[in-house]
Amino acid sequence: MLLSFEDVSLAYSTGRPVLKDVSLALMPGLFYFLTGQSGAGKTSLLRLIYQIERPTSGKIILFDKDTAQLKPSGFPALRRRLGIVFQDFRLVPHLTALENTALPLYLAGGKEKQVRQHVIELLEWVGLSDRLHAYPHELSGGEQQRVAIARAIVNKPRLLLADEPTGNVDDESAQRLIHLFLELNKMGTTIIFATHQQEIVRKLQKPVLQLERGRLVSTAKGRAA
Ligand SMILES: Nc1ncnc2c1ncn2[C@@H]1O[C@H](COP(=O)(O)OP(=O)(O)OP(=O)(O)O)[C@@H](O)[C@H]1O
Ligand SMILES: [Mg+2]
Repeated sequence: MLLSFEDVSLAYSTGRPVLKDVSLALMPGLFYFLTGQSGAGKTSLLRLIYQIERPTSGKIILFDKDTAQLKPSGFPALRRRLGIVFQDFRLVPHLTALENTALPLYLAGGKEKQVRQHVIELLEWVGLSDRLHAYPHELSGGEQQRVAIARAIVNKPRLLLADEPTGNVDDESAQRLIHLFLELNKMGTTIIFATHQQEIVRKLQKPVLQLERGRLVSTAKGRAA
């Protein structure tokens, strides 16, 4: 098991629960869709996995560790094994595409020359070889999204959390990006791909985690009890 939730609930400090008794178990190496309407709790679920939020109740086991035992000092090491593409990108405004993508490697102590070559190849892979030195405000929404994807996978994460990674691109670019995610998955990365675009989910025969108003109504293996 790569990740499991046992009766996990989350209420933000302001009020009612946004995730209710969510239980799931993810196997390593698979590609999972996380679906549900706007407000269903997709981003909140990913925030729990990335340790941005702590559950109000329930248990999260990630990489065989109970995350409740984890202290904030342990977050960086854990996050090096995770990649995340935020729905709103969160690129660093004063860094170029190249520098934004390289940041996780520099933070992990990577050497300038090796990092640079690897990052350039990765940005080529996402189709941005001619935008290496552009700042986020000089990039289109879809280009920023691709930088965010490159940054999320630069560390070769075991688990990639992608929050609506095709939400800001046209259909053709979305197809290309999905192809990249599938390739990445083939190379061994487990992926949780959050989207409310049902046509994407229908096209690929992949396990689906479906949220409805904070409850998981279908798990990867079928309808929840
Ligand atoms: N920081 C927060 N504080 C309080 N409530 C929040 C916070 N973040 C999200 N919510 C609420 O939690 C619920 C779930 O939000 P979430 O962002 O997880 O949904 P989502 O499925 O990702 O939606 P979308 O498809 O629009 O991105 C919503 O009702 C939202 O208003
Ligand atoms: Mg969201």
